[in-house]
Amino acid sequence: MTTAFQFQEWLSHHSEQAESALDSLLDSAGTTPNRLHEAMRYAAQGGGKRIRPLLVYAAGSLGDAKTEVLDAAAVAIECIHAYSLVHDDLPCMDDDDLRRGRPTVHKAFDEATALLVGDALQTRAFEVLANAPCDADARLKMIAALAAASGSRGMAGGQAIDLESVGKKLDLAGLKQMHAMKTGALLSCAVELGGIAAHLNTAQLAQLQKYSTALGLAFQIVDDVLDATADSQTLGKTAGKDAAANKPTYVTLMGLDYAQKEAKELQETAIASLDDFGSRADALKDLALLVVNRAK
Ligand code: IPE
Ligand code: IPE
Ligand code: MG
Ligand code: MG
Ligand code: MG
Repeated sequence: MTTAFQFQEWLSHHSEQAESALDSLLDSAGTTPNRLHEAMRYAAQGGGKRIRPLLVYAAGSLGDAKTEVLDAAAVAIECIHAYSLVHDDLPCMDDDDLRRGRPTVHKAFDEATALLVGDALQTRAFEVLANAPCDADARLKMIAALAAASGSRGMAGGQAIDLESVGKKLDLAGLKQMHAMKTGALLSCAVELGGIAAHLNTAQLAQLQKYSTALGLAFQIVDDVLDATADSQTLGKTAGKDAAANKPTYVTLMGLDYAQKEAKELQETAIASLDDFGSRADALKDLALLVVNRAK
């Protein structure tokens, strides 16, 4: 008899795993300089949904990944994500005061510290990966994947397009490209890191890429929808920001109904692309449902 997959148990176990990996792989707040390390912990810990680490653990379970290697990959991707949020919130970018239900880093500390927190979280991510307890080939592949996803052809490039597009009307292809880069790239990378750590073959990694491309776009569409429909208390960040800042989003360009339908279709595409993995991919399937049906 096979046991039905218990996603809630899986979720709570791996969320705790991500928190404890972050706690042990980030420098303590007592490390010199104290204020910077305290601010790095403030940025990276507390309140995040940890979707990217969860994707690492779920993809890692498709093969023979060691837990310690998945921990390193989970922490590395979350450090890059946390840095992207700290910089995204700066006055020169989205100028936000609220993040994960608390004052943003430049409000709780100061702007220069927020800048340095981003810099230092980014380099810490690569340090953690470089020290991951696995074979050198997997380590190098993970480092290259994270660098590509974070940089000018990935997250940072997408953020540049986002800033250039304020007050402009992107067409649908342009909007999809921006979303794929600023948000999709890191989500796809999370899945890829898990796959590399699990020593999946090229065909399996390509199959996973189909899942994560669909999921990455769906993630940012839902972020756009929630910005327009949820309240700040629920989101833990300022609601209604995109319209107020004149940003092109799925909602402003295509309307709420279209955006919600598109997110559902992408969820189905993502799940269908996991067919070949059978029940080993249950966690990835349930994460796709979670991403699209989330309330924050
Ligand atoms: C928010 O990401 C920024 C985007 C890329 C849309 P998350 O919604 O994953 O934020 P946290 O980590 O849960 O706070
Ligand atoms: C952010 O997109 C994407 C990042 C790379 C951080 P948003 O600007 O929409 O993210 P939120 O809504 O502030 O979390
Ligand atoms: Mg932004
Ligand atoms: Mg923002
Ligand atoms: Mg947003």
